[in-house]
Amino acid sequence: MGTLQLRAGRRHEARLLSDLALRSKGHWGYDQAFLDACRAELTLTPEQVEHQRVTVAERDGRVVGFYALTGQPPNGVLEDLFVEPDHIGTGVGRDLWQHAVEVAASLGFQRLTLDADPGAEPFYLAMGAHRCGLVPSGSIPGRAIPRLEYDISRVQPGGRPGPQQGDRGQASDLQRVRSRHG
Ligand SMILES: CC(C)(COP(=O)(O)OP(=O)(O)OC[C@H]1O[C@@H](n2cnc3c(N)ncnc32)[C@H](O)[C@@H]1OP(=O)(O)O)[C@@H](O)C(=O)NCCC(=O)NCCS
Repeated sequence: MGTLQLRAGRRHEARLLSDLALRSKGHWGYDQAFLDACRAELTLTPEQVEHQRVTVAERDGRVVGFYALTGQPPNGVLEDLFVEPDHIGTGVGRDLWQHAVEVAASLGFQRLTLDADPGAEPFYLAMGAHRCGLVPSGSIPGRAIPRLEYDISRVQPGGRPGPQQGDRGQASDLQRVRSRHG
C-alpha cells in the first residue's frame, strides 16, 4: 500500500465524501433501512466541505477517509470521521484523528467532543477520548449514542499526546473490549 497523504477537502468532493461516509457506516452491518435513515445526516454539501475544515486522506490517488472539524475555541466538535471499508483497520483513522487533534490544538481548542457510532467507540477510547454521556441519535428516533470528549490540553508541541491520568484504565477497557470480540 502507498503512503497516506492528508490534504484539505474540495467543494466538488461533497458527493464523493457523502457516499464514502455511507459506505463506511455500513461497515457495522446495519440494514438498508437504517442506512437510508442516516443518509441525510451523513450528506455533506459543498459549503460544509469548505467551511467545516474537512481533511481527506488519499492513498494511491484515491480518497480513503476524511474528517470534519467545527466549533469555536475552546470547544471543537469532530463532526465526521469515516474510513473507506476496504481501508478500515489500516491506520487511516489514527492518522486522521491525530491530524484533527493537531489542527484543533493549533486553533486554540481545549477540548474535542464527538457523538460516536457505538461500533467506533473502542477506536476513540484507544485514541485517548473518554465517554461523557449518551445523546439521542440525529438519525434514528429513540436511539442513544455515546458522546465522547478529548482533552486537547494533553497535546504537547509536535502534536503528540502526553501522558494523562486514566490512560491505564482506558487501555485495559480496550483490552476487555477486544478480548470479548476475539
Ligand atoms: C472508527 C474508524 C474511523 C477507525 O478508523 P481505522 O482506520 O479503522 O482505525 P485504525 O486502523 O487507525 O486503528 C487505530 C487503533 O484504534 C484501535 N481500534 C480501531 N478500531 C477498533 C475497534 N473496532 N475495536 C477496538 N479497537 C479499535 C486499535 O487499537 C488501533 O490500533 P492498532 O493499529 O494498534 O490495532 C473506522 O473504523 C470507521 O470508519 N468505521 C466506520 C464508520 C464509523 O463508525 N466512523 C465513526 C463515526 S463516529
